[in-house]
Amino acid sequence: MATATNYIILHGRDITAIIETPADEAPIWRYWGPRLADGVTPGPLLRDTRPLPSFSLDHDQPLSLFPTFGVGWFGQSALLAHRGGRDYAQAATRCTTDWITPGRAVRFTLSDAIAKIAVTLDLALDPASDVLTLSTRLTNQGDAPLDVQWLAAGTVPLPPHAHQVQSFSGRHNNEFVPIIEPLSRSLWRRENRRGLTSHDCFPGAVVLADGAAYGAQLAWSGNHAQCIEWLDDGQYQWQMGEWLAPGEMLLAPGESRHSPDMLATCSRHGTNGVAQNFHAAIRAAMDWPEGRMKPRPVHLNTWEGFYFDHDINALKQLSDAASEIGIERYVLDDGWFHGRHDDTSSLGDWWPDAGKYPDGLAPLADHVTALGMEFGLWVEPEMINPDSALYRAHPEWALQIAGRPLLTARNQLVLDMSQPGVSDYLFDHIAALLDSLPIAYLKWDHNRDLTTAGATPRYRTQVEATYALLARLRAAFPHVEIEACAGGGGRIDAGIIRHTHRFWTSDCIDAVSRVAIQRGFLQFMPPEIMGSHVGTSPAHSTGRSQSMTFRAGVALSGHLGVELDARQVTGEDRATLAHWIGLYKQLRDQLHYGQLWLGAADDHLVWQAHGSAEELLLLVYRLDPSSQRHLPAIRLDMLDPDRHYAITRIDRPDPTVHGFPTAPALDAMRTADGLELAGDWLRAVGLPMPPMKAEQVALFKVSAR
Ligand code: GLA
Repeated sequence: MATATNYIILHGRDITAIIETPADEAPIWRYWGPRLADGVTPGPLLRDTRPLPSFSLDHDQPLSLFPTFGVGWFGQSALLAHRGGRDYAQAATRCTTDWITPGRAVRFTLSDAIAKIAVTLDLALDPASDVLTLSTRLTNQGDAPLDVQWLAAGTVPLPPHAHQVQSFSGRHNNEFVPIIEPLSRSLWRRENRRGLTSHDCFPGAVVLADGAAYGAQLAWSGNHAQCIEWLDDGQYQWQMGEWLAPGEMLLAPGESRHSPDMLATCSRHGTNGVAQNFHAAIRAAMDWPEGRMKPRPVHLNTWEGFYFDHDINALKQLSDAASEIGIERYVLDDGWFHGRHDDTSSLGDWWPDAGKYPDGLAPLADHVTALGMEFGLWVEPEMINPDSALYRAHPEWALQIAGRPLLTARNQLVLDMSQPGVSDYLFDHIAALLDSLPIAYLKWDHNRDLTTAGATPRYRTQVEATYALLARLRAAFPHVEIEACAGGGGRIDAGIIRHTHRFWTSDCIDAVSRVAIQRGFLQFMPPEIMGSHVGTSPAHSTGRSQSMTFRAGVALSGHLGVELDARQVTGEDRATLAHWIGLYKQLRDQLHYGQLWLGAADDHLVWQAHGSAEELLLLVYRLDPSSQRHLPAIRLDMLDPDRHYAITRIDRPDPTVHGFPTAPALDAMRTADGLELAGDWLRAVGLPMPPMKAEQVALFKVSAR
């Protein structure tokens, strides 16, 4: 029997990972889950604890960090690769372990002397977020090309009592549709082959187990795949990585590839604990101008108010109206550049349209900045319309396969970003705009899926070249913030956010739809980077109408914006919108720098709480009419059981809704002192809810006394 020195143990704040490290094979997973005590070890090595079952190999092969066929592994392999049909069964024959940061980050270096490959597995556990970052580097040490079909970014175990997986599907205008499935002995698998992150398949999931929830997401803006597989010992393995097209990863002798990062976490506090851990990790990974996020300025985006109809005088009037209601950043969306009058042409021609802007964009940008607002501009750099000056000059810059039809989407094609001429062209044209105008912000769009990615598949290089272009622009213009958009939420992932500062969550601004979309988003990403706008009523995407109060109340918790013709908002609606913008400015620090909990009560009530157990902002949304005479209370189990809390209701009554019955305790919440309740009572029984009609919001402050 071996001793405890054969283990690598990583302790986070609330999680622990334990890995057994034999010298001549891949490291073996022993534990990943809620934190174990300092000094814990598994005791005997795994194989010393389990006799060989009948009809099994005489060599027991448990789940490793890099499970592969060559060792007699019958589960999903972390690597599928061959050299002309040979060397298809890989197995580490040697493994060394090096601490990169003692106790925090470790590197396993595996080599396979038979199949002639080397693999490094990096694992880093950040105790501040409790997120484990895994990645894999593969090197071809043979003398012939290695054709790789699958390389897992990471493989993690899930316990036998894991029972449910929550992933997200969707489409344009309806992102983050939850898919809840039981885990069973059937393989669970999701794949995305759309060339960018996609509306259809978020690259992550959450798994529920008894007493804990697990979450993982891939930091990558391209194709991806993940699977969860039941194993012989009753636990599961969860693998995640890039989906590779045939021939996409053909490694020449000596060549290496690094996988994207897989972010994995676990919490005893359920899906909210998982979300909080991801939020902390994403916050730590972001690269803000001047190193720090400034309070998120209120946006005005011109898209739904103006579409392609750019009249400089109207756009100036819009900025006047916007500044009067408290807008802080004005974003000029699609329609400003050469020849762009609808969505049939001009992508690629990134200079102002001389008809709409005879003196360029400066008169508008200067008007906006003179009003004290920042000026932002929409671009869609990776795209080209066949009807554009750029395409006429460089048809060979579009991704294409000779002889195959050019499949357009929204009348556009995708540029081959890996061609240096393409990225230089884009850098030069965007830099010229940033150099000559007071632009503080870019909205960076990507309005189609990729079909073919060139004569040889260049999905991966497309992503890497886009990251490189973003990085080059950020280095040259470090003060500029960038928003990631792909027809709304088609490129929401932990990879692109390292270069950007906001996601446009969805093109659907219907507030009822947005409640669900935003809750899915918030499972993986923090609220301050969730673009959330107040749109018109009826909503352009759904035709449904909601009150200004509800629209503003739903948009409040994210990075607030307004996307309508603010000149047309008058009377009570204008006062309401200005009021909520003011409220957002008062509350944004609390909404954006703290923790977040999502919850649901019966009877069509959902809620989210922002802040800490010291002080919470509680947003309650009623989506459908109540079916109960007395309403369910909302239990706040994050509060301190030993403290008392004052609860005040701080939303202004919706002027369009009348005639609510009330009660003394509800009235007390409207007073300065609020209603006092014990923390333990709020945890166990809950906060009494006021009557609300459908599509209404209530906002409370819950402050420890
Ligand atoms: C995409 C974006 C929208 C808008 C349009 C402009 O659909 O998601 O917000 O920018 O493109 O064409």
